[in-house]
Amino acid sequence: MLKNDQLDQWDRDNFFHPSTHLAQHARGETPTQIIRTGSGVFIEDRNGAKLLDAFAGLYCVNVGYGRTEISDAIARQAHELAYYHAYVGHGTEASITLAKMVLDRAPEGMSKVYFGLGGSDANETNIKLVWYMNNILGQPAKKKIISRWRGYHGSGLMSGSLTGLCLFHKAFDLPLVPILHTEAPYYLRRPDADMTEREFSAWCAAELENLIQSEGPDTIAAFIAEPVLGTGGIVPPPDGYWEAIQEVLQRHDILLIADEVVTGFGRLGSMFGSTHYGLRPDIITIAKGLTSAYAPLSGSILSERVWKVLEQGTDELGPIGHGWTYSAHPIGAAAGVANLELIDTLGLVQNAGSTGAYLLARLRETLADHPKVAEIRGEGMLAAVEFAEDPGARRFFDPVGKVAGAIAAAARRRGMIVRAMPQGDIIGMAPPLCLSRDEADTIAVTLREAVNEVFA
Ligand SMILES: Cc1ncc(COP(=O)(O)O)c(C=O)c1O
Repeated sequence: MLKNDQLDQWDRDNFFHPSTHLAQHARGETPTQIIRTGSGVFIEDRNGAKLLDAFAGLYCVNVGYGRTEISDAIARQAHELAYYHAYVGHGTEASITLAKMVLDRAPEGMSKVYFGLGGSDANETNIKLVWYMNNILGQPAKKKIISRWRGYHGSGLMSGSLTGLCLFHKAFDLPLVPILHTEAPYYLRRPDADMTEREFSAWCAAELENLIQSEGPDTIAAFIAEPVLGTGGIVPPPDGYWEAIQEVLQRHDILLIADEVVTGFGRLGSMFGSTHYGLRPDIITIAKGLTSAYAPLSGSILSERVWKVLEQGTDELGPIGHGWTYSAHPIGAAAGVANLELIDTLGLVQNAGSTGAYLLARLRETLADHPKVAEIRGEGMLAAVEFAEDPGARRFFDPVGKVAGAIAAAARRRGMIVRAMPQGDIIGMAPPLCLSRDEADTIAVTLREAVNEVFA
């Protein structure tokens, strides 16, 4: 076996890590983290250090680590048929079964699923399909897409444009032209401290209406949003938000793309965030929880209304000019089938709701009295603690991000991974959905210790 110092050198010499400070890493100022194995909610590094992964990788290992039901299914598929494509009507037992299983679980009105590889490419697919659809419907000017500041939809050219975080735009010449951003439903950061949640939701809807009017309703094709803002801060929507937003979209015949890459398959304690909050999407993006990240696979679930236009389009233009070599890859599909079965047998959607609520309550008990805690929020197995210099006055730390980074590092020294979210001083938690109450207690207590250390 290679020595850690050898791997460390190879890592710095050869490996371009995503979302990493490249210069610091190359200079050896940040540690190389070599993860070796995992079981349940724990991972273990090459030095034998065990870490409670309270972010489930990148909120994706929903069933937890080390599930042999899924790794065995992957191995069986690899032995039988590691690859065949899905073009011109081809498929495998796994891909066809998975499509049926996804639709059986999807919200009402959904009709077909297209499989890709990750959340970013699924959103690229979605935007292409929306444009294609409006061309077929004879509305070629209806092409702009509205996303939200702080939304996260990936880091490709189109998906990175949809993302509303400055780190993903700066120096990349993004966002691309047809993408517009509207207000984030972030109640803590409402413009007027006296607003109620419902008033703030109405204000968000009015801002959306203003944007649509200033651009021209006939130019806006779709609105894309996560049911709960994820990477932008883990922020559940304020009371009345989705009702108010959907009223505006419907009035202007604007499609709704629900990006459920994080919320799909149980994270909120419901199978989908759309049903959790009463969304009626035309397209749903899925990835992460579809396979619990045991193999790469994403999907675009299309409503019957969208599907009918695509059928009409291919009657007019021929086969749809869209597809990846790895669309519906059999190994991803086999992982997906085993994963969705496991979610059901272990009752993980229900556990995400009940243990998630317990985790949030424990975080409130252990952290709410801290003078720098501005908000503790969450839904299902998603939680966040936001810090501020002066929470009462909503005065945030300057420069932003240092405090959360230090808390995440302090938690890690105590054997726990939480995520410092990229825009704010926010600690995010999204543990595997199999989290136990004891493990939830450990998260709350460890986080408090880390917070005490940083503010000591
Ligand atoms: C809501 C949402 N959409 C899309 C993506 C992009 O997915 P991927 O990183 O698989 O491309 C993410 C990733 O975190 C996400 O959270």
